Amino acid sequence: MTDFFEILYSCRAMRRLKPDPVPDELIAKILRAGMQAPNGGNTQKWRFLVVRDPAIKKAVQAWYKKAYDEVIGPRYGSSEPPPGVTKDKYKRQHDAVEYLTEHYHEAPVWIVACLEDGPTPNRSAGASIYPAVQNMILATRALGLGTTLTTRHLLFEKEAEAALGLPPGVHSYAILPIGWPMGKFGPVGRAPLDEFVYQDRWGQKWPGASA
Ligand SMILES: Cc1cc2nc3c(=O)[nH]c(=O)nc-3n(C[C@H](O)[C@H](O)[C@H](O)COP(=O)(O)O)c2cc1C
Repeated sequence: MTDFFEILYSCRAMRRLKPDPVPDELIAKILRAGMQAPNGGNTQKWRFLVVRDPAIKKAVQAWYKKAYDEVIGPRYGSSEPPPGVTKDKYKRQHDAVEYLTEHYHEAPVWIVACLEDGPTPNRSAGASIYPAVQNMILATRALGLGTTLTTRHLLFEKEAEAALGLPPGVHSYAILPIGWPMGKFGPVGRAPLDEFVYQDRWGQKWPGASA
């Protein structure tokens, strides 16, 4: 697929992935797309760990699942659907989140997006890696591969980063589990513009919202 807006509008979180192999050639395309992103001062402090080793993925999945069991699962169970999302769709999202939790390590390849951010990263550090992460998500979609931006491992950051073998001064910001999708790409659930966009004064409707 090459039409940018079609890619954008059908790029939902793909959490059900086949274990079938994904060639390095496609992963290289995704990584190169990531590295076209803006980053502070073009210092390119990003580092990307491509993980295929089943033992490493399994070790991180154990922390990812613990975070689901202790924090995320109960939260889903007791929360209302977000804006623009029906109860039914939210339930399907919860099921998919649970599925990915159980099968996280079975995605054939992960890209772990990292930054050489030093011992005390500040609040703006993520601005130099998340644009690359989003570029990679869109590139993955363009290639017909599925992925989801995941950060839940950060609830057990030290343990998960030790399992990933990250050196001191390097931190992970997202893990993209990548594989061929089981389901179909499709539209995301979002509320209309006028719920989020104001003009000139906070709370004042932006007339362009219905354009
Ligand atoms: C900061 C951030 C962290 C996320 N972490 C996870 C995660 O750990 N696991 C997961 O299944 N989805 C995760 N997601 C994906 C969101 O749940 C997803 O983007 C949202 O539900 C919208 O999905 P949609 O684009 O398919 O509508 C994360 C997204 C963001 C932006």
